Amino acid sequence: MRKKVTIVGAGNVGANCALRVAEKELADVVLVDVVEGVPQGKGLDLLQSGPVQGYDVLITGANDYEPTANSDVVVITAGFPRKPGMSRDDLLMANYEVVRTATEQAVKYSPNCILVIVTNPLDAMCQTAYMVSKFSKNRVVGMAGVLDTARFRTFIARELNVSVENVTAVVLGGHGDTMVPLVRLSNVSGIPLTELLDKATIDALVTRTQNGGAEIVKHLKTGSAYYAPSAATIEMVESILKDKKKVLPCCAYLEGEYGINGLFVGVPVKLGAMGIEQIYQIKLSDEEQALLNKSAGAVKELVAVIRSKM
Ligand code: NAI
Ligand code: 2OP
Repeated sequence: MRKKVTIVGAGNVGANCALRVAEKELADVVLVDVVEGVPQGKGLDLLQSGPVQGYDVLITGANDYEPTANSDVVVITAGFPRKPGMSRDDLLMANYEVVRTATEQAVKYSPNCILVIVTNPLDAMCQTAYMVSKFSKNRVVGMAGVLDTARFRTFIARELNVSVENVTAVVLGGHGDTMVPLVRLSNVSGIPLTELLDKATIDALVTRTQNGGAEIVKHLKTGSAYYAPSAATIEMVESILKDKKKVLPCCAYLEGEYGINGLFVGVPVKLGAMGIEQIYQIKLSDEEQALLNKSAGAVKELVAVIRSKM
């Protein structure tokens, strides 16, 4: 039986997600967008790349959810991207409505899917999808940590002039300026980062990671990043579809883990066919826990606004 992935939002992130699913031949793809013609046109264009690229999956586009029926995974990228000077949090209420509608429709046609949320502000949009879908907590997961660690790994590798493949990094917390790159657990082939770089350099890399999204917005001026975000999203989708059980930093619903209750926050999880199959708890120092609490506090404020509208 062929797998099926729906991608809601056929914009920069969504279309690139579709391309990556196709190039890896992970599943047939349905692209959904509110703009008439865009998902159909992009879907057809992607389909016609198949003979050249050598992939053999079906890609279709739609403005409604009927063609999405029985998807294994639904990725929600629909919404508005951040503009220069706009924080992720400014997007809250506009994207809340978008994610609420998309979730309602998606789960109506694919009641057994795993929901992968990408729309910002990420942690609050996960909470929206969780509340609206009424899915069990393992079936709603957000993409942020894979992207944030990819950025941290990139900056570390460039600083040391080593292969990015040898760099392991851990980032916890919300997808915002308060995210917590865990320097203590980041290493290059097992060599602690703190033995390779001085504190001032590490601090600068941490700050650059925390502002990684904004740095790209500043360059692009009319949108936000999409190549690395789509790569990060599809690493998660692949782990789910193939039941790879990769351990990845993802946004997960916590019920007491890390002392956080009833909130979506980024933590290391095992991702497999059941979605989030395990949440890993790392023993944190007092300073790390305080930073995580601060990050969770920022998410909590946004969720409170959403709850007041529900
Ligand atoms: P984009 O503007 O290129 O695409 C968004 C698409 O959503 C547009 O085609 C638009 O027509 C569509 N859309 C709007 N309302 C819709 C609705 N109700 N139903 C279906 N489609 C709808 O934006 P881009 O760059 O693709 O970013 C999408 C979202 O992903 C943004 O919220 C952005 O901030 C977020 N993002 C999150 C990342 C993360 O790490 N979690 C990384 C990168 C982007
Ligand atoms: C990013 O980090 C905009 O959240 C998006 O690039």
